Amino acid sequence: MAGIELINIHKRYWVENRTVKVLNGISLHIPENQITVVLGRSGCGKTTLLRLTGGLEKADQGEIRYGESHKTAFVFQEPRLMPWLTVWNNITFGLSKREQDRKKIADIITTAGLTGFERAYPAQLSGGMQQRTAIARALAYEPSFIMMDEPFAALDYFTREQMQKELMRVQKKQGSSILFVTHSIDEALILGHKIVVIEKGRIKAQYQVPETTGERNLLDDMFISLKRNIITTLD
Ligand SMILES: Nc1ncnc2c1ncn2[C@@H]1O[C@H](COP(=O)(O)OP(=O)(O)OP(=O)(O)O)[C@@H](O)[C@H]1O
Ligand SMILES: [Mg+2]
Repeated sequence: MAGIELINIHKRYWVENRTVKVLNGISLHIPENQITVVLGRSGCGKTTLLRLTGGLEKADQGEIRYGESHKTAFVFQEPRLMPWLTVWNNITFGLSKREQDRKKIADIITTAGLTGFERAYPAQLSGGMQQRTAIARALAYEPSFIMMDEPFAALDYFTREQMQKELMRVQKKQGSSILFVTHSIDEALILGHKIVVIEKGRIKAQYQVPETTGERNLLDDMFISLKRNIITTLD
């Protein structure tokens, strides 16, 4: 089996002496070499789903099956860099000596558009550059899966658009498999090969986005009608 398979996943939490059912029977295939987007309103269980899939937490019920190679990296909403380390050292910090191939790291830094800032500290970077460092750190780890939880939510419109393009380019180049959480329908339409709409801990709908040649244009009829479908699903 390639990718990750979630089978009938349930998760509940105890909050103030009552149980909150967060995920209620999620079954989902997350394919390799693609961007799978999880979309839904605040509190629907997106982060919980990502954390379970990435192995940060255990499900109460159900099973998660992983393909042969299973190495996971995370990118969160905020960059979570170490302020006392330079860009280079933030990226290489968690790597073994063998993994610290200078050429590879330099290539990733170029891809992330951080050339010339290798020795800068996080406080000397803009928010977008910090987030790009966090993405570079995830890529340097050479994961088979990258779990991204609203990684661009804190960025301004232009930086966000640029980062989305960058991510798609890198994804294609490296054949990365990505699970990407967002509450932005447009972001889901720009990035997703597969879009999974979650509501109250259940999968409400799944869409396979047809391949387009070149850049996606959200004003194309196909995307407008897909967006309308998704909005109706979420209403
Ligand atoms: N560690 C926890 N302990 C108790 N309740 C939790 C915990 N983590 C999440 N929850 C609850 O689970 C529900 C879903 O949370 P989750 O963070 O998965 O939502 P989300 O879809 O990521 O929302 P957002 O878009 O706001 O980030 C919420 O009701 C939240 O209160
Ligand atoms: Mg969340």
